[in-house]
Amino acid sequence: MCIIIAVANNKGGVLKTTTVTNLAGVASQHGQRVLIVDCDNQSNVSLSFNLNPDSFENTLYDILVDQVDPRYVIEHVTDNIDILPSNDSLSMLEFEVLTNLNQYPRPFYLLRNMIKDVVNDYDVILLDSPPNLGLVSGNILSFADLVLIPFQPETFSMRSLIKMLSAIDDFKKAHNPKLDVLGVVGTLVNNRTNLHTNILQQCRKFLDHKRIKMFDTIIPRSIRFASSVGFEGLPATLVKENKNNDIVNAYINLYNEIKEVVNV
Ligand SMILES: Nc1ncnc2c1ncn2[C@@H]1O[C@H](COP(=O)(O)OP(=O)(O)O)[C@@H](O)[C@H]1O
Ligand SMILES: [Mg+2]
Repeated sequence: MCIIIAVANNKGGVLKTTTVTNLAGVASQHGQRVLIVDCDNQSNVSLSFNLNPDSFENTLYDILVDQVDPRYVIEHVTDNIDILPSNDSLSMLEFEVLTNLNQYPRPFYLLRNMIKDVVNDYDVILLDSPPNLGLVSGNILSFADLVLIPFQPETFSMRSLIKMLSAIDDFKKAHNPKLDVLGVVGTLVNNRTNLHTNILQQCRKFLDHKRIKMFDTIIPRSIRFASSVGFEGLPATLVKENKNNDIVNAYINLYNEIKEVVNV
């Protein structure tokens, strides 16, 4: 059965996209058939696979607004990985849908209704999210089974994590009873910084209390890794030369931890 995992946080730059593409890389190497749905108009999923987001005839926007069959939009990018791309047009979704509610009477269910026919073609669907909680995120949370939250330990991060968890909880009650939090993963962590260590400890304690999983794996901050991301045309976990790289190993460990919880 296909499992649908959203990687979401209402903040930008916390490694949502990097986590989606690299987990997809690891899962694909385990023989899992993966679909990545890019739900962010910045198109960083396409860019991670070296595709020009402006070259697509149709994107997620056309599926959601004009009911284009997703099979015409999905692109096969590498062994076991397909992507469903987005581009700038997605930024018009909110305006288009919210000004035509008679045409879209259930605006949070567009993604779920349009993608459901291809779900069984995959073992895992990974949803990459925008850095806010608008209509697109509503569609993501209506469709997902699980949410993985990347958490960058900075001074005000706990506050936004608490907001995110409460939004997921509210959404679950109102729109998607099967929705659960898969867990929280520390990202861009510098273990030599007391601030990071302290905030991660505080976060772990808070999540334990709420019975939400905090993964043991953290994704370390690495300037070298960041500067290599743009050049490979593939997620780091799929680049052969990256064997034994710390960050790649972190994603492998994260995948193994996720496997302990769900069948991916
Ligand atoms: N381990 C890392 N350390 C430092 N920078 C990273 C790391 N992994 C990715 N980056 C860079 O951080 C930036 C933000 O990551 P991204 O995944 O795009 O975040 P988001 O999708 O949450 O906005 C990108 O430029 C990316 O290349
Ligand atoms: Mg992103």
